[in-house]
Amino acid sequence: MEKLNLPGPKAKEIIEEDEKFVSSSYGRPHPTAIEYGKGSWVWDVDGNKFLDFSTGISVCNTGHCHPEIVRTIQEQSELLIHMSNSDFRYPSLVRLAKKLVEITPGDSNKRVFFCNSGAESVEAAIKLARWATKRQLILAFYGAFHGRTYGAMSLTASKEVQRERFGPLLPGVIHIPFPDTYRNPDFDCVKYLEEVVFKTIAPPNDVAALFAEPIQGEGGYIIPPPDFFQELKKLLDKYGILFVDDEVQAGMGRTGKMFAIEHWGIIPDIICVAKGIASGMPIGATVAHRNIMNWPQGAHASTFGGNPISCEAALTTIKLLETELIENANNMGDYFLQELRKLSTEYTFIGDVRGKGLMLACEIVKDRDTKEPDPELRDKIIHECCLRGLLILGCGTSVIRFMSPLTVNKEEVDFALGVFEDSLKAIKR
Ligand SMILES: Cc1ncc(COP(=O)(O)O)c(C=O)c1O
Repeated sequence: MEKLNLPGPKAKEIIEEDEKFVSSSYGRPHPTAIEYGKGSWVWDVDGNKFLDFSTGISVCNTGHCHPEIVRTIQEQSELLIHMSNSDFRYPSLVRLAKKLVEITPGDSNKRVFFCNSGAESVEAAIKLARWATKRQLILAFYGAFHGRTYGAMSLTASKEVQRERFGPLLPGVIHIPFPDTYRNPDFDCVKYLEEVVFKTIAPPNDVAALFAEPIQGEGGYIIPPPDFFQELKKLLDKYGILFVDDEVQAGMGRTGKMFAIEHWGIIPDIICVAKGIASGMPIGATVAHRNIMNWPQGAHASTFGGNPISCEAALTTIKLLETELIENANNMGDYFLQELRKLSTEYTFIGDVRGKGLMLACEIVKDRDTKEPDPELRDKIIHECCLRGLLILGCGTSVIRFMSPLTVNKEEVDFALGVFEDSLKAIKR
């Protein structure tokens, strides 16, 4: 695979201005600037073409600029752009609420709160859980990422830099270790919660909710054991503690089911969604049972949350997921995972290959026996892939994640595997 000469001249200019004028808090692992996209591919300002397996961080699940999404946005923008759901009703919002109630696990006795992002959907869930239970304590997991606003950040326990100098955070948040079958296979999380946490720092009758990502995303694509969430939910139910399922990254078909928690067959009390729900239009939603979401008028709202264009884009996205894309995520995901596993046997610095559907990852280590993470090598691999025309992102300490759009085909997966292998070979040399 021929290497691109990055950044090209136009990208170089943008990079220089980006460094001058844009907040220094953003990550910028790729030496390029993207101009347009179509399906699984994007082109930079110098005409370089990349296979995009980052999908705007698991957002463009229907591919870039899917024609049906583009048409939906165009049509709705000629009809109504904004009205504010805070004070007015409009049909697209109600239709989307009804659809989300229908497709989320559980019966139809649910209601939906609309906002603009993943963090906001988590903020709503924190407020709702405290309001509904009249309890204060919140449990979350180490390695979790729930967003960067103050409430969501207080649950996030992913990286030091995300908290440093921002305190004090929300009081009453307690973190516990997440079950990691690769790094800590003997840890019994539910037992630890019951026998240690509940008996020491978190009296269960004071706990409003436990927040969990069904598969930890930013924390490293960590998949809990098959019986974990069922056992956890049983324990939480015993004490009336709400289970909040953060589907912001793992949801909307990415794992081969509409919501990742369906792999564990439990019904969450509150579900947070955003990212992939509207193919790139900003919207978040918090879905809860009607007995929980019965807070009074004025208790919570958002000016932009659930604007008509995002609602219509979400309805079209869900239609595409239901009719073809979730099935494709399963088929392509199985193939991709199997090929990544084959490939990993030749490279001892790949410690683990894991994933569900098209939420796939490789963990890069210094040594397979010690499992010592190798973040520098991980970053080098990502850079080599970019130079060969594949955009991927890291997560966790030393994990590479592959987030292709759910529209991906076998030729594109093979292209990605080819670039990945060439990059691994280049590094091994
Ligand atoms: C699981 C999870 N929850 C919440 C968020 C926050 O979403 P946003 O960046 O839209 O605020 C993210 C973002 O990566 C996430 O992965």
